[in-house]
Amino acid sequence: MLQASRGKRLYIQDVSPRDGFQIEPVFVPTDDKIALINRLSRSGLAKIEVTSFSSPKAIPALADSVEVMAGIERVHGVEYAALVPNAKGAERAMTCRIDEINVVMSASQSHNRANLRMDQERSLAQFADIVALARGRSEVNASLSVAFGCPFEGEVRQAEVLRLVDSIAALGIRRLTLCDTTGMANPAQAQQLCAAVIACHPELSLTAHFHDTRGMGLANVLAALQAGVDRFDASLGGLGGCPFAPGASGNVCTEDMVHMLDAMGYATGVDLTALIECSRILPGLVGHDVPGQVARAGPASRRYPLPDDLGQTRLAGAVPACRGAAA
Ligand code: COA
Ligand code: ZN
Repeated sequence: MLQASRGKRLYIQDVSPRDGFQIEPVFVPTDDKIALINRLSRSGLAKIEVTSFSSPKAIPALADSVEVMAGIERVHGVEYAALVPNAKGAERAMTCRIDEINVVMSASQSHNRANLRMDQERSLAQFADIVALARGRSEVNASLSVAFGCPFEGEVRQAEVLRLVDSIAALGIRRLTLCDTTGMANPAQAQQLCAAVIACHPELSLTAHFHDTRGMGLANVLAALQAGVDRFDASLGGLGGCPFAPGASGNVCTEDMVHMLDAMGYATGVDLTALIECSRILPGLVGHDVPGQVARAGPASRRYPLPDDLGQTRLAGAVPACRGAAA
Protein backbone atom coordinates (compact mmCIF):
# COMPACT_ATOMS: atom_id res chain seq x y z
CA MET A 1 0.00 0.00 0.00
CA LEU A 2 2.85 2.39 0.79
CA GLN A 3 4.55 1.74 -2.56
CA ALA A 4 1.44 2.85 -4.42
CA SER A 5 1.99 6.34 -2.98
CA ARG A 6 5.54 6.79 -4.28
CA GLY A 7 6.23 10.33 -5.48
CA LYS A 8 3.46 11.75 -3.32
CA ARG A 9 4.21 15.21 -1.89
CA LEU A 10 4.60 15.31 1.88
CA TYR A 11 4.97 18.38 4.11
CA ILE A 12 7.71 18.25 6.72
CA GLN A 13 7.32 20.61 9.65
CA ASP A 14 10.16 21.03 12.13
CA VAL A 15 9.25 21.85 15.71
CA SER A 16 12.72 21.71 17.27
CA PRO A 17 12.99 25.42 18.13
CA ARG A 18 9.76 25.03 20.19
CA ASP A 19 9.11 21.41 21.23
CA GLY A 20 12.86 20.71 21.19
CA PHE A 21 14.16 23.61 23.22
CA GLN A 22 11.19 23.93 25.64
CA ILE A 23 12.35 20.95 27.70
CA GLU A 24 16.07 21.71 27.69
CA PRO A 25 17.45 22.83 31.05
CA VAL A 26 19.92 25.22 29.40
CA PHE A 27 18.78 28.47 27.82
CA VAL A 28 19.92 28.45 24.21
CA PRO A 29 21.00 32.04 23.51
CA THR A 30 18.59 34.01 21.32
CA ASP A 31 21.15 34.60 18.54
CA ASP A 32 21.90 30.87 18.36
CA LYS A 33 18.19 30.06 18.08
CA ILE A 34 17.81 32.60 15.28
CA ALA A 35 20.89 31.27 13.44
CA LEU A 36 19.58 27.69 13.66
CA ILE A 37 16.11 28.67 12.43
CA ASN A 38 17.68 30.61 9.54
CA ARG A 39 19.65 27.52 8.51
CA LEU A 40 16.59 25.30 8.87
CA SER A 41 14.68 27.77 6.68
CA ARG A 42 17.01 26.99 3.80
CA SER A 43 16.60 23.20 4.02
CA GLY A 44 13.24 22.93 2.24
CA LEU A 45 10.94 22.49 5.25
CA ALA A 46 7.29 23.43 4.78
CA LYS A 47 6.91 24.92 8.25
CA ILE A 48 9.02 25.73 11.30
CA GLU A 49 7.54 26.11 14.79
CA VAL A 50 9.74 28.92 15.93
CA THR A 51 8.83 29.37 19.60
CA SER A 52 5.94 29.50 22.04
CA PHE A 53 4.15 32.32 23.78
CA SER A 54 3.78 30.40 27.02
CA SER A 55 4.38 31.96 30.39
CA PRO A 56 8.15 32.51 30.72
CA LYS A 57 7.77 31.19 34.27
CA ALA A 58 6.35 27.92 32.90
CA ILE A 59 8.77 27.64 29.94
CA PRO A 60 11.86 29.74 30.71
CA ALA A 61 13.75 28.23 27.76
CA LEU A 62 11.46 30.14 25.38
CA ALA A 63 11.22 33.41 27.28
CA ASP A 64 12.74 35.20 24.25
CA SER A 65 9.84 34.42 21.89
CA VAL A 66 9.28 38.03 20.77
CA GLU A 67 12.98 38.55 20.04
CA VAL A 68 13.29 35.28 18.12
CA MET A 69 10.19 35.99 16.02
CA ALA A 70 11.55 39.45 15.20
CA GLY A 71 15.08 38.25 14.44
CA ILE A 72 14.56 35.45 11.93
CA GLU A 73 14.94 35.82 8.18
CA ARG A 74 11.83 34.58 6.40
CA VAL A 75 12.25 32.39 3.37
CA HIS A 76 9.50 32.37 0.77
CA GLY A 77 7.50 29.14 0.92
CA VAL A 78 8.27 28.42 4.58
CA GLU A 79 5.56 29.02 7.17
CA TYR A 80 6.63 30.33 10.56
CA ALA A 81 4.44 29.16 13.44
CA ALA A 82 4.33 29.73 17.18
CA LEU A 83 2.57 27.80 19.92
CA VAL A 84 0.02 29.69 22.02
CA PRO A 85 -1.42 28.11 25.22
CA ASN A 86 -3.94 30.76 26.23
CA ALA A 87 -5.46 34.17 25.48
CA LYS A 88 -2.61 36.03 27.17
CA GLY A 89 -0.16 34.21 24.90
CA ALA A 90 -2.24 35.13 21.85
CA GLU A 91 -2.12 38.81 22.76
CA ARG A 92 1.67 38.64 22.99
CA ALA A 93 1.90 36.65 19.77
CA MET A 94 -0.18 39.25 17.94
CA THR A 95 2.56 41.82 18.50
CA CYS A 96 4.74 39.69 16.17
CA ARG A 97 4.51 38.66 12.55
CA ILE A 98 3.44 34.99 12.65
CA ASP A 99 2.08 32.95 9.77
CA GLU A 100 0.34 30.45 12.03
CA ILE A 101 -0.72 30.49 15.65
CA ASN A 102 -0.75 26.95 17.01
CA VAL A 103 -3.26 26.93 19.85
CA VAL A 104 -2.95 23.93 22.13
CA MET A 105 -5.25 21.97 24.39
CA SER A 106 -5.27 18.38 25.59
CA ALA A 107 -7.50 15.47 24.70
CA SER A 108 -7.67 14.59 28.41
CA GLN A 109 -8.94 16.86 31.16
CA SER A 110 -6.03 15.91 33.45
CA HIS A 111 -3.29 16.90 31.04
CA ASN A 112 -5.13 20.08 30.14
CA ARG A 113 -5.08 21.04 33.80
CA ALA A 114 -1.44 20.00 34.31
CA ASN A 115 -0.18 21.77 31.20
CA LEU A 116 -2.44 24.77 30.91
CA ARG A 117 -3.96 25.17 34.40
CA MET A 118 -7.49 25.23 33.05
CA ASP A 119 -10.33 22.93 32.02
CA GLN A 120 -10.84 21.83 28.43
CA GLU A 121 -14.03 23.91 28.23
CA ARG A 122 -12.08 27.04 29.08
CA SER A 123 -9.43 26.18 26.51
CA LEU A 124 -12.11 25.86 23.83
CA ALA A 125 -13.64 29.19 24.88
CA GLN A 126 -10.23 30.83 24.63
CA PHE A 127 -9.71 29.24 21.19
CA ALA A 128 -12.84 31.08 20.04
CA ASP A 129 -11.42 34.42 21.26
CA ILE A 130 -8.05 33.68 19.67
CA VAL A 131 -9.62 32.82 16.31
CA ALA A 132 -11.36 36.21 16.38
CA LEU A 133 -8.14 37.98 17.37
CA ALA A 134 -6.09 36.27 14.66
CA ARG A 135 -8.58 36.77 11.83
CA GLY A 136 -6.85 38.37 8.85
CA ARG A 137 -3.49 38.30 10.59
CA SER A 138 -2.50 34.66 11.16
CA GLU A 139 -3.70 31.21 10.30
CA VAL A 140 -4.81 29.17 13.31
CA ASN A 141 -3.85 25.55 13.87
CA ALA A 142 -5.20 23.61 16.84
CA SER A 143 -3.00 20.98 18.49
CA LEU A 144 -4.61 18.23 20.55
CA SER A 145 -2.04 16.98 23.06
CA VAL A 146 -2.16 13.40 24.42
CA ALA A 147 -4.61 12.44 21.64
CA PHE A 148 -3.25 8.87 21.60
CA GLY A 149 -2.97 8.36 25.35
CA CYS A 150 -2.55 10.39 28.52
CA PRO A 151 0.22 9.87 31.08
CA PHE A 152 -2.29 10.57 33.87
CA GLU A 153 -5.51 8.93 32.63
CA GLY A 154 -4.21 6.26 30.24
CA GLU A 155 -6.47 5.51 27.30
CA VAL A 156 -8.09 8.45 25.55
CA ARG A 157 -11.15 7.17 23.71
CA GLN A 158 -11.39 7.84 20.00
CA ALA A 159 -14.94 9.14 20.49
CA GLU A 160 -13.62 11.75 22.91
CA VAL A 161 -10.94 12.89 20.45
CA LEU A 162 -13.56 13.15 17.70
CA ARG A 163 -15.86 15.13 19.98
CA LEU A 164 -13.09 17.66 20.62
CA VAL A 165 -12.21 17.79 16.91
CA ASP A 166 -15.89 18.57 16.20
CA SER A 167 -15.74 21.44 18.70
CA ILE A 168 -12.51 22.76 17.20
CA ALA A 169 -13.85 22.57 13.64
CA ALA A 170 -17.06 24.34 14.75
CA LEU A 171 -14.91 27.35 15.67
CA GLY A 172 -13.84 27.68 12.05
CA ILE A 173 -10.35 26.27 12.65
CA ARG A 174 -9.19 24.42 9.53
CA ARG A 175 -5.81 23.08 10.67
CA LEU A 176 -5.45 20.33 13.24
CA THR A 177 -2.54 18.45 14.78
CA LEU A 178 -2.97 15.15 16.60
CA CYS A 179 -0.15 14.93 19.14
CA ASP A 180 1.21 11.79 20.77
CA THR A 181 2.79 13.83 23.53
CA THR A 182 4.39 10.99 25.50
CA GLY A 183 4.85 8.37 22.79
CA MET A 184 1.94 6.11 23.78
CA ALA A 185 0.56 5.54 20.26
CA ASN A 186 1.06 2.27 18.42
CA PRO A 187 0.83 2.02 14.62
CA ALA A 188 -2.56 0.28 14.55
CA GLN A 189 -4.06 2.99 16.75
CA ALA A 190 -2.29 5.78 14.86
CA GLN A 191 -3.71 4.50 11.58
CA GLN A 192 -7.20 4.15 13.04
CA LEU A 193 -7.44 7.54 14.73
CA CYS A 194 -5.97 9.46 11.78
CA ALA A 195 -8.34 7.66 9.38
CA ALA A 196 -11.32 8.42 11.64
CA VAL A 197 -10.46 12.14 11.85
CA ILE A 198 -9.97 12.35 8.08
CA ALA A 199 -13.29 10.54 7.49
CA CYS A 200 -15.23 12.83 9.86
CA HIS A 201 -13.44 16.06 8.89
CA PRO A 202 -12.00 15.86 5.39
CA GLU A 203 -11.94 19.68 5.30
CA LEU A 204 -9.21 19.81 7.95
CA SER A 205 -5.55 20.00 7.07
CA LEU A 206 -4.26 17.28 9.39
CA THR A 207 -0.77 16.99 10.88
CA ALA A 208 0.54 13.98 12.81
CA HIS A 209 2.93 14.75 15.66
CA PHE A 210 4.62 11.73 17.20
CA HIS A 211 7.16 11.36 19.96
CA ASP A 212 9.57 8.45 19.90
CA THR A 213 9.42 7.80 23.64
CA ARG A 214 8.84 4.07 23.17
CA GLY A 215 10.56 3.55 19.83
CA MET A 216 7.34 3.56 17.80
CA GLY A 217 7.70 7.02 16.29
CA LEU A 218 8.63 6.20 12.68
CA ALA A 219 6.28 3.22 12.62
CA ASN A 220 3.51 5.59 13.65
CA VAL A 221 4.50 8.02 10.89
CA LEU A 222 4.07 5.22 8.33
CA ALA A 223 0.74 4.24 9.84
CA ALA A 224 -0.52 7.83 9.65
CA LEU A 225 0.74 8.01 6.08
CA GLN A 226 -1.30 4.94 5.23
CA ALA A 227 -4.34 6.64 6.73
CA GLY A 228 -3.85 9.57 4.33
CA VAL A 229 -1.90 12.08 6.44
CA ASP A 230 0.55 14.15 4.42
CA ARG A 231 1.86 16.58 7.07
CA PHE A 232 4.28 15.51 9.75
CA ASP A 233 5.84 17.34 12.66
CA ALA A 234 9.28 16.20 13.70
CA SER A 235 12.17 17.68 15.62
CA LEU A 236 15.76 18.12 14.51
CA GLY A 237 18.01 15.64 16.29
CA GLY A 238 14.99 14.04 17.97
CA LEU A 239 14.91 16.70 20.70
CA GLY A 240 11.62 17.50 22.39
CA GLY A 241 9.08 16.89 25.09
CA CYS A 242 6.45 18.57 27.19
CA PRO A 243 7.75 19.61 30.64
CA PHE A 244 4.22 19.09 32.04
CA ALA A 245 3.80 15.49 30.86
CA PRO A 246 5.66 12.97 33.03
CA GLY A 247 7.95 10.69 31.05
CA ALA A 248 7.97 12.87 27.95
CA SER A 249 10.92 12.56 25.59
CA GLY A 250 11.93 13.54 22.09
CA ASN A 251 9.86 13.88 18.95
CA VAL A 252 10.41 11.73 15.91
CA CYS A 253 13.73 12.99 14.55
CA THR A 254 13.30 15.20 11.48
CA GLU A 255 16.37 14.01 9.59
CA ASP A 256 15.65 10.34 10.37
CA MET A 257 12.07 10.77 9.13
CA VAL A 258 13.12 12.61 5.97
CA HIS A 259 15.77 9.97 5.29
CA MET A 260 13.16 7.21 5.56
CA LEU A 261 10.56 8.99 3.42
CA ASP A 262 13.13 9.98 0.77
CA ALA A 263 14.38 6.39 0.58
CA MET A 264 10.80 5.20 0.06
CA GLY A 265 10.38 7.60 -2.86
CA TYR A 266 8.17 10.25 -1.26
CA ALA A 267 8.70 13.88 -2.26
CA THR A 268 9.58 15.73 0.95
CA GLY A 269 11.19 18.75 -0.69
CA VAL A 270 13.81 18.67 2.07
CA ASP A 271 17.57 18.70 1.50
CA LEU A 272 18.69 15.90 3.81
CA THR A 273 22.34 16.96 3.75
CA ALA A 274 21.42 20.48 4.86
CA LEU A 275 19.24 19.04 7.63
CA ILE A 276 22.04 16.78 8.87
CA GLU A 277 24.39 19.78 8.95
CA CYS A 278 21.82 21.65 11.08
CA SER A 279 21.48 18.67 13.40
CA ARG A 280 25.21 18.51 14.01
CA ILE A 281 25.02 21.99 15.54
CA LEU A 282 22.61 20.83 18.26
CA PRO A 283 24.93 19.12 20.79
CA GLY A 284 26.91 22.37 21.01
CA LEU A 285 23.72 24.30 21.74
CA VAL A 286 22.08 21.98 24.27
CA GLY A 287 25.23 20.52 25.84
CA HIS A 288 24.52 16.84 25.20
CA ASP A 289 24.25 14.27 22.44
CA VAL A 290 20.92 14.08 20.63
CA PRO A 291 18.98 10.88 19.83
CA GLY A 292 18.84 11.21 16.02
CA GLN A 293 20.55 8.35 14.22
CA VAL A 294 21.08 9.39 10.60
CA ALA A 295 23.25 12.39 11.51
CA ARG A 296 25.60 9.92 13.23
CA ALA A 297 25.42 6.99 10.79
CA GLY A 298 25.11 9.03 7.59
CA PRO A 299 22.45 8.19 5.02
CA ALA A 300 22.09 4.61 3.77
CA SER A 301 23.80 5.75 0.54
CA ARG A 302 27.03 6.24 2.51
CA ARG A 303 29.84 3.94 1.34
CA TYR A 304 33.03 2.98 3.17
CA PRO A 305 36.43 1.87 1.83
CA LEU A 306 37.11 -1.82 2.35
CA PRO A 307 39.31 -2.60 5.36
CA ASP A 308 43.06 -2.57 4.57
CA ASP A 309 43.48 -6.31 5.20
CA LEU A 310 41.08 -7.05 2.33
CA GLY A 311 43.72 -5.83 -0.16
CA GLN A 312 43.29 -5.37 -3.87
CA THR A 313 44.72 -8.84 -4.66
CA ARG A 314 42.08 -10.72 -2.69
CA LEU A 315 39.32 -8.44 -3.90
CA ALA A 316 40.42 -8.79 -7.53
CA GLY A 317 40.52 -12.55 -7.09
CA ALA A 318 37.01 -12.64 -5.66
CA VAL A 319 35.29 -10.95 -8.57
CA PRO A 320 36.10 -13.49 -11.37
CA ALA A 321 35.25 -16.34 -8.98
CA CYS A 322 31.79 -14.89 -8.51
CA ARG A 323 31.36 -14.34 -12.23
CA GLY A 324 32.49 -17.88 -12.88
CA ALA A 325 30.02 -19.26 -10.40
CA ALA A 326 27.19 -17.37 -12.03
CA ALA A 327 28.07 -18.46 -15.56
N1 COA B 1 2.52 34.46 28.45
C1 COA B 1 3.10 35.22 29.40
N2 COA B 1 2.66 35.27 30.66
C2 COA B 1 1.58 34.54 30.97
C3 COA B 1 0.94 33.74 30.01
C4 COA B 1 1.45 33.72 28.71
N3 COA B 1 0.92 32.97 27.76
N4 COA B 1 -0.09 33.14 30.61
C5 COA B 1 -0.11 33.51 31.90
N5 COA B 1 0.92 34.37 32.10
C6 COA B 1 1.30 34.99 33.34
C7 COA B 1 0.19 35.78 33.98
O1 COA B 1 0.15 37.08 33.46
C8 COA B 1 0.62 35.75 35.42
O2 COA B 1 1.67 36.65 35.62
P1 COA B 1 1.96 37.29 37.05
O3 COA B 1 2.32 36.16 37.97
O4 COA B 1 3.11 38.21 36.79
O5 COA B 1 0.69 37.97 37.43
C9 COA B 1 1.18 34.36 35.57
O6 COA B 1 1.60 33.97 34.26
C10 COA B 1 0.20 33.37 36.09
O7 COA B 1 -0.97 33.49 35.36
P2 COA B 1 -2.18 32.49 35.52
O8 COA B 1 -3.32 32.89 34.65
O9 COA B 1 -2.45 32.28 36.99
O10 COA B 1 -1.58 31.21 34.85
P3 COA B 1 -1.08 29.89 35.49
O11 COA B 1 -0.03 30.07 36.52
O12 COA B 1 -2.29 29.12 35.84
O13 COA B 1 -0.32 29.25 34.22
C11 COA B 1 -0.07 28.99 31.86
C12 COA B 1 -1.00 29.02 33.02
C13 COA B 1 -0.83 28.55 30.62
C14 COA B 1 0.53 30.33 31.68
C15 COA B 1 1.10 28.14 32.05
O14 COA B 1 0.68 26.92 32.59
C16 COA B 1 1.84 27.93 30.77
O15 COA B 1 2.33 28.83 30.09
N6 COA B 1 2.04 26.68 30.45
C17 COA B 1 2.87 26.33 29.37
C18 COA B 1 2.24 25.33 28.51
C19 COA B 1 3.24 24.87 27.51
O16 COA B 1 3.83 25.64 26.78
N7 COA B 1 3.45 23.54 27.48
C20 COA B 1 4.34 22.92 26.57
C21 COA B 1 3.82 22.85 25.18
S1 COA B 1 2.47 21.77 24.97
ZN1 ZN C 1 5.27 17.36 21.11
